[in-house]
Amino acid sequence: MKILPLLVLLMLETIVSAQHAVNLRIINGTKATDTHQWEWILSLRQHGEHICGASLIAPQWAVTAAHCISTDDGVVSASSLSVMAGSYNVYNQDTVISVKKVVRHPQYSDVSIDNDIALLKLASAVSDITPVTLAQDAPLLEHDPSFVAGWGNMSTTTLEFPSELMQVDLKIIDFAQCSQSYRTEEIYLTDNMFCAGYMDGSKDSCQGDSGGPLIIPQGNYYELAGIVSFGGSETQMCGAPNFPGIYTKVQNYVAWIERYTGILKRHISLEETLKTREFYTIDGTFSWHDFENVPNAFDWVYQMQNGRMFQLQGKQPTDNDVFGWKEVYGLTITPQWQMIYLGSDIDGDGTTKFDWIVLGMHTNAAYKLEGVRENGTFKYSDKLDIHYDATAQTVRFY
Ligand code: ARG
Repeated sequence: MKILPLLVLLMLETIVSAQHAVNLRIINGTKATDTHQWEWILSLRQHGEHICGASLIAPQWAVTAAHCISTDDGVVSASSLSVMAGSYNVYNQDTVISVKKVVRHPQYSDVSIDNDIALLKLASAVSDITPVTLAQDAPLLEHDPSFVAGWGNMSTTTLEFPSELMQVDLKIIDFAQCSQSYRTEEIYLTDNMFCAGYMDGSKDSCQGDSGGPLIIPQGNYYELAGIVSFGGSETQMCGAPNFPGIYTKVQNYVAWIERYTGILKRHISLEETLKTREFYTIDGTFSWHDFENVPNAFDWVYQMQNGRMFQLQGKQPTDNDVFGWKEVYGLTITPQWQMIYLGSDIDGDGTTKFDWIVLGMHTNAAYKLEGVRENGTFKYSDKLDIHYDATAQTVRFY
């Protein structure tokens, strides 16, 4: 199985150029108008040109497809890559951030396209966009609704790229049926993949959408469940009947993502938990050496509430450091917990110092978190107790 190179696409174009081009989108989608639904979507660029989609999963981390950043003999250099954030227009140049590090899944196979996932560490943090939540255990049952978006080809017969982000609604396709179909072309799907689209081929993702997000509704928000990977038949690359799109199953990689990025994103009902417990404790102790000489050592800790992001403000810890939350962009907040976001790599050298850091605050604390250093333990005024085990780097709630 090979991802068809651009050359084939160009040949394809020559072949079909005499035909009337039907105005299809993403394949049969619509323009993405809801400015919030895909606000974390990124255009991945190589030498400034859009090559794939990607998703912001933490202020400084994005996820994309491994095949997007792969060459015949390895991984493209991070310095050739950048991402565009914060706009649905792919030509927008306002927020283009260079990529600092590329982490391709170690078991990615360019033959089977198994483990088609890669992480991109950005040169700077995107602080005004709420990253997307990763799906942790989505059932992905046949007929379940999902949505895919991208700036990929809109035509099944020619090349027609949009400037504005396109989206389309898909249904999860029965995996057995889908694999059966692909088997006829000697393509063997793995458990790290799932199929979404329509067996009649009416709606699909397409070339240029790769690496981009497939989201599924989860309550009143959306989670990143899939990454556009590949699809199509020998004769038709997109929107081919019986060959729905194949997506990387994000939930299989949550642990891997967390290990590399040090991010942990969970929906934690603190209101619930605070009723029953006085402290949250993570075993271990802090090693102050880790951030003694790091200015703004805690700038990497973020939390989100009602879709708004806060950054923990802190200086180098001294015996009486007081930390507070600063809203990353100025909006009033409903005092209600929704989500805690956790970050890492305090000195930006690419290695994860704090795989976990859990922060919590009571709803009434008005976003003011106070902490003092106490034998390597943070004590928060709202009874949140954090311990850090430099060796174990694991999270535990009690
Ligand atoms: N591999 C393609 C890319 O690089 C995405 C293909 C998706 N194909 C499909 N039929 N859904 O952009």
